[in-house]
Amino acid sequence: MTRIGVGLISAGWMGTVHSRGYLAVGDKYPELGVSPELVVVADTVEANSQRLVDRLGYARSTTDYRDVLADPGVDVVSIAAPNSLHKEFALAAAAAGKPFWIEKPMGAGVADSRAIAAAVDAAGLVTAVGFNYRHAPAVQHLRDLVRSGQLGRVTNVRVRLDADYSADPAGPRTWRFVKEQAGTGVLGDLLSHGFDLGQYVLADPVSEVSAITATFIPQRPEVAAGGVGHQVRAAADAPMLPVENEDWAAVHARFASGAVGTFESSRVAVGPRCEYSIAVYGTRGSAVWDFERMNEVAVCLQSDGSYGYTRILTDPSMGAFGRFQVGAGMGLSFDDLKVIEAALFLESVLTGEQTAPSVADGLAAAEVAHAADTSAQDGTWHTVPAPTGRTTFAA
Ligand SMILES: NC(=O)c1ccc[n+]([C@@H]2O[C@H](COP(=O)([O-])OP(=O)(O)OC[C@H]3O[C@@H](n4cnc5c(N)ncnc54)[C@H](O)[C@@H]3O)[C@@H](O)[C@H]2O)c1
Repeated sequence: MTRIGVGLISAGWMGTVHSRGYLAVGDKYPELGVSPELVVVADTVEANSQRLVDRLGYARSTTDYRDVLADPGVDVVSIAAPNSLHKEFALAAAAAGKPFWIEKPMGAGVADSRAIAAAVDAAGLVTAVGFNYRHAPAVQHLRDLVRSGQLGRVTNVRVRLDADYSADPAGPRTWRFVKEQAGTGVLGDLLSHGFDLGQYVLADPVSEVSAITATFIPQRPEVAAGGVGHQVRAAADAPMLPVENEDWAAVHARFASGAVGTFESSRVAVGPRCEYSIAVYGTRGSAVWDFERMNEVAVCLQSDGSYGYTRILTDPSMGAFGRFQVGAGMGLSFDDLKVIEAALFLESVLTGEQTAPSVADGLAAAEVAHAADTSAQDGTWHTVPAPTGRTTFAA
Protein backbone atom coordinates (compact mmCIF):
# COMPACT_ATOMS: atom_id res chain seq x y z
CA MET A 1 0.00 0.00 0.00
CA THR A 2 1.27 3.45 -0.90
CA ARG A 3 0.26 6.05 1.65
CA ILE A 4 -0.79 9.34 0.02
CA GLY A 5 -1.21 12.32 2.32
CA VAL A 6 -4.07 14.59 1.29
CA GLY A 7 -4.32 18.30 1.99
CA LEU A 8 -7.55 20.16 1.27
CA ILE A 9 -7.89 23.89 0.63
CA SER A 10 -11.50 25.01 1.16
CA ALA A 11 -13.99 22.84 2.99
CA GLY A 12 -17.25 23.83 1.28
CA TRP A 13 -19.44 21.66 -0.93
CA MET A 14 -16.76 20.47 -3.35
CA GLY A 15 -14.09 20.19 -0.66
CA THR A 16 -16.36 17.74 1.13
CA VAL A 17 -17.03 15.73 -2.02
CA HIS A 18 -13.31 15.57 -2.91
CA SER A 19 -12.57 14.26 0.58
CA ARG A 20 -15.21 11.53 0.35
CA GLY A 21 -13.78 10.68 -3.07
CA TYR A 22 -10.28 10.04 -1.71
CA LEU A 23 -11.66 7.87 1.08
CA ALA A 24 -13.45 5.56 -1.39
CA VAL A 25 -10.53 5.04 -3.81
CA GLY A 26 -8.90 2.17 -1.87
CA ASP A 27 -12.15 0.18 -2.00
CA LYS A 28 -13.21 0.95 -5.57
CA TYR A 29 -9.75 0.89 -7.18
CA PRO A 30 -7.84 -1.75 -5.17
CA GLU A 31 -5.33 -2.32 -7.98
CA LEU A 32 -3.90 1.17 -7.41
CA GLY A 33 -2.67 0.00 -4.01
CA VAL A 34 -3.15 3.44 -2.47
CA SER A 35 -4.18 4.39 0.98
CA PRO A 36 -5.14 8.09 1.01
CA GLU A 37 -4.81 9.74 4.43
CA LEU A 38 -6.63 12.99 5.17
CA VAL A 39 -3.88 15.10 6.74
CA VAL A 40 -4.94 18.74 6.93
CA VAL A 41 -7.82 20.96 5.80
CA ALA A 42 -7.68 24.75 5.46
CA ASP A 43 -10.66 27.09 5.44
CA THR A 44 -11.08 30.66 6.61
CA VAL A 45 -14.42 29.59 8.12
CA GLU A 46 -13.29 27.34 10.96
CA ALA A 47 -16.69 25.66 11.31
CA ASN A 48 -16.38 24.33 7.74
CA SER A 49 -12.95 22.78 8.22
CA GLN A 50 -13.80 21.48 11.70
CA ARG A 51 -16.81 19.70 10.21
CA LEU A 52 -14.46 17.70 7.98
CA VAL A 53 -12.15 16.93 10.91
CA ASP A 54 -15.10 15.63 12.91
CA ARG A 55 -16.96 13.80 10.15
CA LEU A 56 -14.35 12.62 7.67
CA GLY A 57 -11.28 12.30 9.84
CA TYR A 58 -8.81 14.99 8.78
CA ALA A 59 -6.02 14.96 11.38
CA ARG A 60 -6.07 18.74 11.79
CA SER A 61 -7.44 22.01 10.44
CA THR A 62 -6.00 25.45 9.82
CA THR A 63 -7.25 28.82 8.60
CA ASP A 64 -4.18 29.41 6.38
CA TYR A 65 -3.83 27.45 3.13
CA ARG A 66 -0.03 27.87 3.31
CA ASP A 67 0.01 25.44 6.25
CA VAL A 68 -1.36 22.78 3.91
CA LEU A 69 1.36 23.31 1.32
CA ALA A 70 4.13 23.45 3.96
CA ASP A 71 3.11 20.18 5.64
CA PRO A 72 5.67 17.47 4.72
CA GLY A 73 2.96 14.82 5.22
CA VAL A 74 0.91 16.26 2.36
CA ASP A 75 1.63 14.61 -1.01
CA VAL A 76 -1.37 15.89 -3.00
CA VAL A 77 -3.68 18.87 -2.65
CA SER A 78 -7.32 19.54 -3.49
CA ILE A 79 -8.25 23.11 -4.34
CA ALA A 80 -11.99 23.64 -3.95
CA ALA A 81 -12.19 27.38 -3.29
CA PRO A 82 -14.29 30.06 -4.99
CA ASN A 83 -12.92 30.67 -8.51
CA SER A 84 -10.96 33.87 -7.85
CA LEU A 85 -8.75 32.07 -5.30
CA HIS A 86 -7.80 29.22 -7.64
CA LYS A 87 -4.86 31.03 -9.22
CA GLU A 88 -3.14 31.99 -5.96
CA PHE A 89 -3.60 28.52 -4.47
CA ALA A 90 -2.63 26.65 -7.64
CA LEU A 91 0.49 28.70 -8.26
CA ALA A 92 1.55 28.20 -4.63
CA ALA A 93 0.90 24.44 -4.91
CA ALA A 94 2.95 24.28 -8.13
CA ALA A 95 5.79 26.22 -6.46
CA ALA A 96 5.68 23.73 -3.57
CA GLY A 97 5.84 20.83 -6.08
CA LYS A 98 2.49 19.40 -4.93
CA PRO A 99 0.26 17.79 -7.58
CA PHE A 100 -3.24 19.20 -7.27
CA TRP A 101 -6.88 18.48 -8.12
CA ILE A 102 -8.59 21.78 -8.79
CA GLU A 103 -12.24 22.58 -9.31
CA LYS A 104 -13.71 24.03 -12.48
CA PRO A 105 -13.75 26.67 -13.82
CA MET A 106 -9.99 26.80 -13.43
CA GLY A 107 -9.75 30.38 -12.15
CA ALA A 108 -11.96 33.44 -12.48
CA GLY A 109 -11.12 33.97 -16.15
CA VAL A 110 -8.87 32.87 -18.95
CA ALA A 111 -5.86 34.86 -17.67
CA ASP A 112 -5.99 32.82 -14.43
CA SER A 113 -6.33 29.57 -16.39
CA ARG A 114 -3.34 30.44 -18.60
CA ALA A 115 -1.21 31.27 -15.55
CA ILE A 116 -2.18 28.01 -13.81
CA ALA A 117 -1.47 25.88 -16.91
CA ALA A 118 1.91 27.59 -17.40
CA ALA A 119 2.91 27.08 -13.75
CA VAL A 120 1.99 23.39 -13.92
CA ASP A 121 3.96 22.93 -17.14
CA ALA A 122 7.01 24.65 -15.63
CA ALA A 123 6.78 22.47 -12.50
CA GLY A 124 6.18 19.28 -14.54
CA LEU A 125 3.26 18.23 -12.34
CA VAL A 126 0.28 16.01 -13.05
CA THR A 127 -3.07 17.49 -12.06
CA ALA A 128 -6.81 16.93 -12.16
CA VAL A 129 -9.67 19.31 -12.97
CA GLY A 130 -13.24 18.76 -11.75
CA PHE A 131 -14.87 17.86 -15.05
CA ASN A 132 -16.83 15.06 -13.35
CA TYR A 133 -19.56 14.58 -15.96
CA ARG A 134 -17.02 13.00 -18.30
CA HIS A 135 -16.78 10.02 -15.98
CA ALA A 136 -20.45 8.98 -16.03
CA PRO A 137 -20.59 5.44 -17.49
CA ALA A 138 -23.37 6.55 -19.87
CA VAL A 139 -21.15 9.37 -21.16
CA GLN A 140 -18.32 6.88 -21.62
CA HIS A 141 -20.71 4.74 -23.66
CA LEU A 142 -21.77 7.73 -25.73
CA ARG A 143 -18.14 8.59 -26.40
CA ASP A 144 -17.44 4.97 -27.39
CA LEU A 145 -20.33 5.15 -29.89
CA VAL A 146 -18.72 8.23 -31.43
CA ARG A 147 -15.20 6.82 -31.50
CA SER A 148 -16.22 3.44 -32.90
CA GLY A 149 -17.95 5.21 -35.78
CA GLN A 150 -21.37 3.72 -34.97
CA LEU A 151 -22.99 7.16 -35.23
CA GLY A 152 -21.28 7.73 -38.59
CA ARG A 153 -19.64 11.11 -39.16
CA VAL A 154 -20.63 13.49 -36.37
CA THR A 155 -22.40 16.45 -37.91
CA ASN A 156 -23.65 18.39 -34.88
CA VAL A 157 -23.93 18.40 -31.11
CA ARG A 158 -26.26 20.11 -28.65
CA VAL A 159 -25.04 20.66 -25.09
CA ARG A 160 -27.39 22.16 -22.53
CA LEU A 161 -26.93 22.87 -18.82
CA ASP A 162 -30.11 24.22 -17.30
CA ALA A 163 -30.39 24.45 -13.53
CA ASP A 164 -32.74 26.09 -11.07
CA TYR A 165 -30.21 26.68 -8.30
CA SER A 166 -30.76 30.44 -8.59
CA ALA A 167 -34.30 30.49 -9.97
CA ASP A 168 -35.62 32.05 -6.75
CA PRO A 169 -35.06 35.83 -6.93
CA ALA A 170 -34.89 35.84 -3.12
CA GLY A 171 -31.82 33.57 -3.30
CA PRO A 172 -28.79 35.47 -1.99
CA ARG A 173 -25.96 37.00 -3.97
CA THR A 174 -23.28 34.41 -3.18
CA TRP A 175 -19.74 34.68 -4.57
CA ARG A 176 -21.03 33.10 -7.80
CA PHE A 177 -22.78 36.38 -8.78
CA VAL A 178 -19.79 38.67 -8.10
CA LYS A 179 -17.42 39.23 -11.02
CA GLU A 180 -14.32 39.65 -8.90
CA GLN A 181 -14.91 36.33 -7.13
CA ALA A 182 -16.44 34.18 -9.86
CA GLY A 183 -15.49 35.78 -13.18
CA THR A 184 -18.27 35.03 -15.65
CA GLY A 185 -21.65 33.55 -14.61
CA VAL A 186 -22.96 30.43 -16.34
CA LEU A 187 -20.21 30.58 -19.00
CA GLY A 188 -17.70 29.56 -16.33
CA ASP A 189 -19.85 27.89 -13.72
CA LEU A 190 -21.93 25.49 -15.81
CA LEU A 191 -20.71 25.81 -19.39
CA SER A 192 -17.10 25.04 -18.40
CA HIS A 193 -18.50 21.52 -17.85
CA GLY A 194 -20.40 21.78 -21.14
CA PHE A 195 -17.43 22.91 -23.23
CA ASP A 196 -15.34 20.10 -21.78
CA LEU A 197 -18.11 17.54 -22.31
CA GLY A 198 -18.57 18.53 -25.95
CA GLN A 199 -14.84 18.48 -26.67
CA TYR A 200 -14.39 15.21 -24.76
CA VAL A 201 -17.26 13.26 -26.32
CA LEU A 202 -16.34 14.40 -29.83
CA ALA A 203 -12.56 14.27 -29.12
CA ASP A 204 -12.56 17.49 -31.08
CA PRO A 205 -11.72 21.04 -29.96
CA VAL A 206 -14.08 23.98 -30.45
CA SER A 207 -12.44 26.34 -32.94
CA GLU A 208 -14.84 29.27 -33.28
CA VAL A 209 -17.84 30.67 -31.38
CA SER A 210 -20.53 33.30 -31.43
CA ALA A 211 -22.58 33.95 -28.29
CA ILE A 212 -25.26 35.97 -26.56
CA THR A 213 -25.75 36.27 -22.81
CA ALA A 214 -28.39 37.76 -20.52
CA THR A 215 -29.00 38.46 -16.84
CA PHE A 216 -32.65 37.87 -15.91
CA ILE A 217 -32.47 38.61 -12.17
CA PRO A 218 -30.37 41.79 -11.89
CA GLN A 219 -30.36 42.13 -8.08
CA ARG A 220 -30.21 39.72 -5.17
CA PRO A 221 -30.18 40.13 -1.38
CA GLU A 222 -26.87 40.19 0.44
CA VAL A 223 -25.73 36.78 1.64
CA ALA A 224 -25.89 35.89 5.34
CA ALA A 225 -22.88 34.22 6.94
CA GLY A 226 -22.68 30.42 6.84
CA GLY A 227 -23.76 27.73 4.40
CA VAL A 228 -21.94 26.00 1.58
CA GLY A 229 -22.67 25.37 -2.10
CA HIS A 230 -26.16 26.54 -3.00
CA GLN A 231 -27.42 26.09 0.59
CA VAL A 232 -26.83 29.71 1.57
CA ARG A 233 -29.53 32.06 2.87
CA ALA A 234 -30.02 35.82 2.80
CA ALA A 235 -30.43 37.63 6.08
CA ALA A 236 -33.87 39.08 6.83
CA ASP A 237 -34.09 42.65 5.46
CA ALA A 238 -30.80 42.15 3.60
CA PRO A 239 -29.94 44.97 1.17
CA MET A 240 -30.28 44.22 -2.54
CA LEU A 241 -27.01 44.07 -4.48
CA PRO A 242 -26.30 43.89 -8.22
CA VAL A 243 -25.78 40.56 -10.00
CA GLU A 244 -22.55 41.15 -11.92
CA ASN A 245 -22.48 38.28 -14.41
CA GLU A 246 -24.77 36.40 -16.79
CA ASP A 247 -27.64 34.10 -15.75
CA TRP A 248 -27.98 32.65 -19.24
CA ALA A 249 -25.77 32.08 -22.26
CA ALA A 250 -26.21 30.57 -25.72
CA VAL A 251 -23.22 29.74 -27.89
CA HIS A 252 -22.99 28.67 -31.52
CA ALA A 253 -19.81 26.73 -32.14
CA ARG A 254 -17.69 25.24 -34.88
CA PHE A 255 -15.38 22.35 -34.05
CA ALA A 256 -11.97 21.76 -35.64
CA SER A 257 -13.36 18.71 -37.53
CA GLY A 258 -16.03 20.82 -39.22
CA ALA A 259 -18.83 19.60 -36.91
CA VAL A 260 -21.06 22.35 -35.53
CA GLY A 261 -22.92 22.69 -32.26
CA THR A 262 -24.82 24.73 -29.73
CA PHE A 263 -24.14 25.20 -26.03
CA GLU A 264 -26.80 26.76 -23.82
CA SER A 265 -27.06 27.25 -20.08
CA SER A 266 -29.25 28.87 -17.46
CA ARG A 267 -28.89 29.01 -13.68
CA VAL A 268 -32.36 30.51 -13.23
CA ALA A 269 -34.48 28.03 -15.22
CA VAL A 270 -37.82 27.22 -13.61
CA GLY A 271 -38.49 23.55 -14.21
CA PRO A 272 -35.17 21.92 -15.01
CA ARG A 273 -33.30 21.05 -11.83
CA CYS A 274 -30.01 19.75 -13.21
CA GLU A 275 -30.71 19.15 -16.90
CA TYR A 276 -27.11 18.75 -18.01
CA SER A 277 -27.35 17.06 -21.36
CA ILE A 278 -25.44 16.27 -24.50
CA ALA A 279 -26.99 15.11 -27.77
CA VAL A 280 -24.67 13.94 -30.54
CA TYR A 281 -25.98 13.60 -34.08
CA GLY A 282 -24.15 11.68 -36.80
CA THR A 283 -24.84 10.54 -40.35
CA ARG A 284 -25.85 7.04 -39.14
CA GLY A 285 -27.23 7.58 -35.67
CA SER A 286 -27.54 9.76 -32.62
CA ALA A 287 -27.30 9.48 -28.85
CA VAL A 288 -28.49 11.62 -25.94
CA TRP A 289 -27.49 11.77 -22.25
CA ASP A 290 -28.97 13.88 -19.48
CA PHE A 291 -27.55 14.09 -15.95
CA GLU A 292 -31.07 14.07 -14.50
CA ARG A 293 -31.17 10.49 -15.82
CA MET A 294 -27.46 9.91 -15.51
CA ASN A 295 -27.62 6.12 -15.62
CA GLU A 296 -29.14 5.82 -19.06
CA VAL A 297 -28.47 6.90 -22.61
CA ALA A 298 -30.91 7.12 -25.52
CA VAL A 299 -29.49 5.69 -28.74
CA CYS A 300 -30.71 5.38 -32.31
CA LEU A 301 -28.53 3.50 -34.80
CA GLN A 302 -29.50 3.22 -38.45
CA SER A 303 -27.54 -0.04 -38.58
CA ASP A 304 -30.14 -1.62 -36.22
CA GLY A 305 -32.83 -0.77 -38.73
CA SER A 306 -34.60 1.11 -35.96
CA TYR A 307 -36.29 4.49 -35.94
CA GLY A 308 -36.54 6.55 -32.79
CA TYR A 309 -34.60 6.05 -29.59
CA THR A 310 -33.87 2.96 -27.56
CA ARG A 311 -33.29 3.65 -23.84
CA ILE A 312 -30.17 1.83 -22.69
CA LEU A 313 -29.50 1.49 -18.96
CA THR A 314 -25.87 1.45 -17.92
CA ASP A 315 -24.15 -1.84 -17.11
CA PRO A 316 -20.71 -3.14 -16.13
CA SER A 317 -19.43 -2.89 -19.75
CA MET A 318 -19.58 0.92 -19.59
CA GLY A 319 -16.77 3.01 -18.12
CA ALA A 320 -16.20 2.50 -14.39
CA PHE A 321 -19.73 1.17 -13.73
CA GLY A 322 -18.55 -2.27 -12.60
CA ARG A 323 -16.43 -0.80 -9.81
CA PHE A 324 -19.57 0.54 -8.15
CA GLN A 325 -22.35 -1.91 -9.05
CA VAL A 326 -22.43 -5.55 -10.11
CA GLY A 327 -25.92 -5.52 -11.61
CA ALA A 328 -26.94 -3.79 -14.84
CA GLY A 329 -29.36 -0.93 -14.29
CA MET A 330 -28.18 -0.15 -10.76
CA GLY A 331 -27.28 3.52 -10.66
CA LEU A 332 -24.22 5.60 -9.82
CA SER A 333 -24.49 8.98 -8.08
CA PHE A 334 -22.85 12.39 -8.49
CA ASP A 335 -20.44 11.59 -5.65
CA ASP A 336 -19.37 8.39 -7.43
CA LEU A 337 -18.18 10.54 -10.35
CA LYS A 338 -15.88 12.29 -7.87
CA VAL A 339 -14.55 8.92 -6.66
CA ILE A 340 -13.63 8.13 -10.28
CA GLU A 341 -11.97 11.54 -10.58
CA ALA A 342 -10.04 11.02 -7.34
CA ALA A 343 -8.83 7.65 -8.64
CA LEU A 344 -7.75 9.10 -12.00
CA PHE A 345 -5.90 11.85 -10.14
CA LEU A 346 -4.09 9.45 -7.80
CA GLU A 347 -3.32 7.11 -10.71
CA SER A 348 -1.82 10.08 -12.57
CA VAL A 349 0.29 10.94 -9.51
CA LEU A 350 1.52 7.35 -9.09
CA THR A 351 2.34 6.74 -12.76
CA GLY A 352 3.23 10.24 -13.96
CA GLU A 353 0.81 9.67 -16.86
CA GLN A 354 -1.88 12.34 -17.12
CA THR A 355 -5.10 10.28 -17.19
CA ALA A 356 -7.30 12.65 -15.17
CA PRO A 357 -8.76 15.75 -16.86
CA SER A 358 -5.74 18.08 -16.93
CA VAL A 359 -5.07 21.78 -16.47
CA ALA A 360 -4.63 21.84 -20.27
CA ASP A 361 -8.24 20.63 -20.52
CA GLY A 362 -9.21 23.27 -17.96
CA LEU A 363 -7.51 25.91 -20.09
CA ALA A 364 -9.15 24.60 -23.28
CA ALA A 365 -12.61 25.03 -21.71
CA ALA A 366 -11.65 28.47 -20.36
CA GLU A 367 -10.52 29.61 -23.83
CA VAL A 368 -13.93 28.67 -25.26
CA ALA A 369 -15.70 30.51 -22.41
CA HIS A 370 -13.50 33.57 -22.94
CA ALA A 371 -14.13 33.65 -26.69
CA ALA A 372 -17.89 33.29 -26.03
CA ASP A 373 -17.83 36.07 -23.42
CA THR A 374 -15.97 38.37 -25.82
CA SER A 375 -18.41 37.51 -28.61
CA ALA A 376 -21.38 38.30 -26.37
CA GLN A 377 -19.91 41.75 -25.80
CA ASP A 378 -18.94 42.69 -29.35
CA GLY A 379 -21.47 40.65 -31.35
CA THR A 380 -18.95 38.98 -33.67
CA TRP A 381 -17.53 35.47 -34.12
CA HIS A 382 -14.32 34.70 -32.23
CA THR A 383 -11.62 32.15 -32.93
CA VAL A 384 -10.64 29.85 -30.06
CA PRO A 385 -6.88 29.17 -29.82
CA ALA A 386 -5.92 25.55 -30.54
CA PRO A 387 -5.42 23.63 -27.27
CA THR A 388 -1.87 23.26 -26.00
CA GLY A 389 -0.18 21.14 -23.35
CA ARG A 390 -1.24 17.77 -21.97
CA THR A 391 -4.92 17.74 -22.98
CA THR A 392 -6.70 14.45 -22.42
CA PHE A 393 -10.02 15.06 -24.17
CA ALA A 394 -8.79 13.91 -27.56
CA ALA A 395 -6.67 11.01 -26.22
N1 LIG B 1 -17.45 19.91 -10.32
C1 LIG B 1 -18.66 20.34 -9.99
O1 LIG B 1 -19.67 19.79 -10.44
C2 LIG B 1 -18.78 21.53 -9.08
C3 LIG B 1 -19.95 21.74 -8.33
C4 LIG B 1 -19.99 22.83 -7.46
C5 LIG B 1 -18.91 23.70 -7.36
N2 LIG B 1 -17.80 23.49 -8.13
C6 LIG B 1 -16.63 24.40 -8.05
O2 LIG B 1 -15.99 24.17 -6.79
C7 LIG B 1 -15.46 25.41 -6.29
C8 LIG B 1 -16.04 25.65 -4.90
O3 LIG B 1 -17.45 25.69 -5.00
P1 LIG B 1 -18.35 25.24 -3.75
O4 LIG B 1 -19.75 25.18 -4.24
O5 LIG B 1 -17.74 24.06 -3.09
O6 LIG B 1 -18.19 26.54 -2.84
P2 LIG B 1 -18.65 26.74 -1.35
O7 LIG B 1 -19.13 28.13 -1.27
O8 LIG B 1 -19.52 25.61 -0.89
O9 LIG B 1 -17.29 26.58 -0.55
C9 LIG B 1 -16.22 27.46 -0.68
C10 LIG B 1 -15.35 27.34 0.56
O10 LIG B 1 -14.18 28.13 0.37
C11 LIG B 1 -13.87 28.70 1.63
N3 LIG B 1 -12.93 29.80 1.48
C12 LIG B 1 -13.19 31.07 1.11
N4 LIG B 1 -12.04 31.80 1.15
C13 LIG B 1 -11.04 30.95 1.51
C14 LIG B 1 -9.65 31.10 1.74
N5 LIG B 1 -9.03 32.29 1.57
N6 LIG B 1 -8.94 30.02 2.14
C15 LIG B 1 -9.56 28.82 2.30
N7 LIG B 1 -10.87 28.62 2.11
C16 LIG B 1 -11.62 29.67 1.74
C17 LIG B 1 -15.24 29.09 2.18
O11 LIG B 1 -15.20 29.37 3.55
C18 LIG B 1 -16.05 27.83 1.84
O12 LIG B 1 -15.95 26.87 2.85
C19 LIG B 1 -15.82 26.48 -7.30
O13 LIG B 1 -14.75 26.70 -8.17
C20 LIG B 1 -17.01 25.87 -8.06
O14 LIG B 1 -17.13 26.35 -9.39
C21 LIG B 1 -17.71 22.41 -8.95
